[in-house]
Amino acid sequence: MSLPDAPRINPSILSADFANMQRDLERIAAADLVHVDVMDNHFVPNLTFGPQMVERIQQTSPVPLDVHLMISDPDRWAPGYAEIGAASVTFHVEAAADPVGVARRLREIGSRAGVAVKPDTPVEPLLDHLGEFDQVLVMTVEPGFGGQAFRPETLPKLRLLRQEASRRGADVWLQVDGGIAPGTIEQAAAAGADTFVAGSAVFGADDIEARIGELRELARAHACADRSAGASSLNG
Ligand code: DX5
Ligand code: ZN
Repeated sequence: MSLPDAPRINPSILSADFANMQRDLERIAAADLVHVDVMDNHFVPNLTFGPQMVERIQQTSPVPLDVHLMISDPDRWAPGYAEIGAASVTFHVEAAADPVGVARRLREIGSRAGVAVKPDTPVEPLLDHLGEFDQVLVMTVEPGFGGQAFRPETLPKLRLLRQEASRRGADVWLQVDGGIAPGTIEQAAAAGADTFVAGSAVFGADDIEARIGELRELARAHACADRSAGASSLNG
């Protein structure tokens, strides 16, 4: 499956109207992928939807699925989301017994394999394994709820990931999720992110399509010109 080039804007349907999911999926047809937040009320203190709902979203959505699993035991549950046909499945490293094993299984089934880190989880242990993942998701809020404030102290992790991906020649998407809107997307793009989740900033806009275009243009305008340039200052 060929997927859109960076910068990618992935609206989170956590901010959609769950009783009008088909309508809201059509409203974000201009997006790159649709971000589907699966929460189990165990790994995070909130509950959304499981495989049956995600399968219907997959059948209905005009754009490919970017599934974000905020669940315990992804070793057991993540492959099912790849089997549904999601283009990308991302699980949390904090929840996985064998992150590389889960990623390999996802790729075998045919989806992209993503690994996510909460705001306080370091990324250094992932660096030697970047080639095993198609995406690293740096959470810029504590996972569980939409509408929280962006945490800029997470940006050094993006700079480090961008630098190391470039140095190691790893073709990995760097995703940010949480509080992304005009005013914060610029910092995330400059730090090296190329894939942006936005829930409230997209569904709360009067003109959803225009907001997606605005976010994409801001990300493009602020992207580090050379991918390695994002790493020029690890602490700046
Ligand atoms: C939070 C979810 C996010 C959330 C983002 O745990 O993973 O995807 O929907 O919402 P905003 O963009 O409103 O912060
Ligand atoms: Zn998410």
